[in-house]
Amino acid sequence: MRTYLVTGGAGFIGSNYIHYMFQKYGDSIRIINVDALTYAGNLENLKEVEDRENYTFIKADITDKQAIEKIFAENNIDRVVHFAAESHVDRSIKNPEIFIQTNVLGTAVMLNCAKAAWEQPDGSYAEGKKFLHVSTDEVYGSLEEDGEYFYETTPYAPHSPYSASKASSDMLVKAYMDTYHFPANITNCSNNYGPYQFPEKLIPLIINNALHGKKLPVYGDGKNVRDWLYVVDHAKAIDMVQEKGRLFETYNIGGHNEKQNIEIVEIIIETLQEQLADNDPRKALVSKDLITYVEDRKGHDRRYAIAPDKIKAEIGWEPETMFKDGIKETIKWYFEHEEWMKNVTSGDYQKYYEEMYKA
Ligand code: NAD
Ligand code: TYD
Repeated sequence: MRTYLVTGGAGFIGSNYIHYMFQKYGDSIRIINVDALTYAGNLENLKEVEDRENYTFIKADITDKQAIEKIFAENNIDRVVHFAAESHVDRSIKNPEIFIQTNVLGTAVMLNCAKAAWEQPDGSYAEGKKFLHVSTDEVYGSLEEDGEYFYETTPYAPHSPYSASKASSDMLVKAYMDTYHFPANITNCSNNYGPYQFPEKLIPLIINNALHGKKLPVYGDGKNVRDWLYVVDHAKAIDMVQEKGRLFETYNIGGHNEKQNIEIVEIIIETLQEQLADNDPRKALVSKDLITYVEDRKGHDRRYAIAPDKIKAEIGWEPETMFKDGIKETIKWYFEHEEWMKNVTSGDYQKYYEEMYKA
């Protein structure tokens, strides 16, 4: 039975990936989820899988070398899928150090431990061992508003402490592949949306605020562009890269779904108005009048857009979920999981929110 070590599996994309993998492979794989449970880690995301015999959760920090070594020593790990990271740009602007700690040093620990466990005396690696480093399109910097795209060959030009730390971690993975022939892939994905996303990111924040009649903060002129991908499509792409991709390659994953932030906010408001029943008291709260332009993010990247040509040509992956359907599913999910949102927003997040938005 193949064993996966998933880091950051209690976060947004990691938990969606774990659900996707169990739906696809059932009892034929084993998943060990290693997560430090920072403010962004939420085990409620994994309630449906926690009793599975082939699922194990281990609370550990990826910067803790001894803890990670022990996991490799006690388990015959075949695949690593490395999600664990500090992931929010605004937090990285306020407090960059933790991003270097987790994203750079944590990735170094993961690489070292996997290499030590997998490398054979002759410097080769046991058959089937693979490390997938989950990264972001933000490492490529910012595009102008015209028709350029990010390709795998686009030079790195990160601007925020978040993207700089992810770029550094990508470089470490590349160095391990080049120096030690370490069996890895890197995926650089565009902005994800979907169930279980922490409401500090644009889409769940706007949904949650709108349902509570709170202001909808739009940074700057609202015309920054992001390329949105439904999270389950991302989970599928990661699995396909490990199954069908060429080792040592980077694959860009994107939605071909560019939208300005203000468009996203308007679509959410319209969808909420459509979906809320007339007798639902929240319906009266949801209004475009809540849109509030606020001070721009420092160093705010203007546009991200992925050309997913390589992954389509080599692996046959392309985004399946149209934004108009994905956003409806997502909003429906947040409607049906009010308790999840309440639990999330009653914790650390609120203190952070007050600090960020002076609410
Ligand atoms: P998230 O913030 O929702 O989850 C991160 C998870 O990592 C949490 O469960 C957290 O507890 C855990 N974690 C943080 N520090 C840790 C540490 N030191 N040790 C162990 N666990 C730790 O993030 P996400 O949005 O799910 O992103 C996952 C990965 O995907 C990240 O590497 C991110 O850079 C990348 N990515 C995200 C997006 C996006 O739109 N969210 C897009 C492209 C790439
Ligand atoms: P975010 O979800 O933080 O993702 P990223 O910065 O990694 O792309 O932000 C998406 C876009 O939305 C980004 O251009 C910043 C903008 N934004 C707002 O306008 N208001 C907000 O409250 C947030 C959180 C983001």
